[in-house]
Amino acid sequence: MSAVSPTVLVVGAGGREHALAHTLARSADVVVAPGNPGMPGTSPEGHAITVSSSPPSEIDADLVVIGPEAPLVDGLADRLRAQGKSVVGPGADGARLEGSKAFMKEVLAEAGVPTARYAAFDRVDEATDFLRSLPGPWVVKTDGLAAGKGVLVAESLAEAIADVEAKLSGAAFGAAGRRVVIEEGMAGPECSLMALCDGRHVVALAPAQDAKRLGEGDAGPNTGGMGAFSPIPALDAADVDSLMDTAVEPLLAALRTRGIDYRGVLYAGLMLTDEGPKVLEYNVRFGDPEAECVLVRLASDPFELLASVAGGSLQDAPRFTDDAAVCVVVASPGYPGATETGGLISGLDQRGQLEVPIEGVTVFHAGTARDAEGRFVTAGGRVLGITAVARGPEEARRRAYAGVAGIGWPGAQVRTDIGAAANTIGSAR
Ligand code: AMP
Ligand code: GLY
Repeated sequence: MSAVSPTVLVVGAGGREHALAHTLARSADVVVAPGNPGMPGTSPEGHAITVSSSPPSEIDADLVVIGPEAPLVDGLADRLRAQGKSVVGPGADGARLEGSKAFMKEVLAEAGVPTARYAAFDRVDEATDFLRSLPGPWVVKTDGLAAGKGVLVAESLAEAIADVEAKLSGAAFGAAGRRVVIEEGMAGPECSLMALCDGRHVVALAPAQDAKRLGEGDAGPNTGGMGAFSPIPALDAADVDSLMDTAVEPLLAALRTRGIDYRGVLYAGLMLTDEGPKVLEYNVRFGDPEAECVLVRLASDPFELLASVAGGSLQDAPRFTDDAAVCVVVASPGYPGATETGGLISGLDQRGQLEVPIEGVTVFHAGTARDAEGRFVTAGGRVLGITAVARGPEEARRRAYAGVAGIGWPGAQVRTDIGAAANTIGSAR
């Protein structure tokens, strides 16, 4: 590496972007735009993390990593590439995979990737007829983006029909719900498999498992994710290779056939059903909170790895430590519905890390702000991701929850079963 450190711009403001900044700061200076107040600091390697309110197009950087789906769907990667920038994240053409579930299903079918039976509708009567033809449970999804909250898994036909009406009318999710995708319900443990693509080559990141439901034991409404852990003990390297062969390689080939030069993260949300793995969805970015627990395990040089994704020169598969990581999300009261913000957060120091440090624990800020006196307050649905690494999953889980115990605000919501043995794929098999 040259004597002058490279600079990476990370676009976004959440826990995933904090984890990206924290990781990239091992080998580069990092600017996060717009970022949040829990991010700034200096890494142990001496690299700075700063935040900026400037538009991404006006920030000088050797590499840009776009965190969230919305700017990708909106074509930010295309605009930055047109300026000659090196970017991790697909253009609007590839980002449609996440921006439209109907498009995603079309490409899946082309690629021959197994998924649930489905159809897309913009009329209530036709949607209702299709629902009646399925055995149930019934799954109703907004076609457009809804921050992970647009999916209902209904146990009754009446509930599914009411949800179709609420979505198609625009009442529930605005424009994102004016078209719905209806699917047959599948069952089985889930796995988030993220891969890095440089347009031609694809390599797997360590698999993670996300807790999507708000409540203990996977009850309650879907959220953006209440916690995650990595690795998944029951999935070995051969299992990951086979999932890549089934769910990722063919998709990338289908994208290339369409002339799409996909450079970024391709995230396959998989359900391991009795009939084999099936794709629930693709995301065009790192998962949140999956990124938090996968990136803290990355052993490869993070800047070089992501620069090779942007530059089309991806070679070796990334290396990960043998450590286990657990990320526990602490959310605001009301999340995933209307959330109450402005709660004063106790237990954080000036930088936003644990006031009483615990070995292996990092606090990733997802939705925080500072009040007039400079104290951290809640400013979003998911507020913090308490992430722990340790030699084994039980110790990582113990450390993460020890961290959670030191932090709080009125009405904070947290699941106590993230990474619990009873909640992993190993035991569900
Ligand atoms: P998605 O945003 O499509 O990944 O859906 C969010 C969550 O809803 C998934 O992680 C699953 O837990 C659940 N889900 C989605 N589709 C199905 C399906 N066809 N059958 C059962 N559960 C589903
Ligand atoms: N945690 C699920 C997602 O990032 O979509």
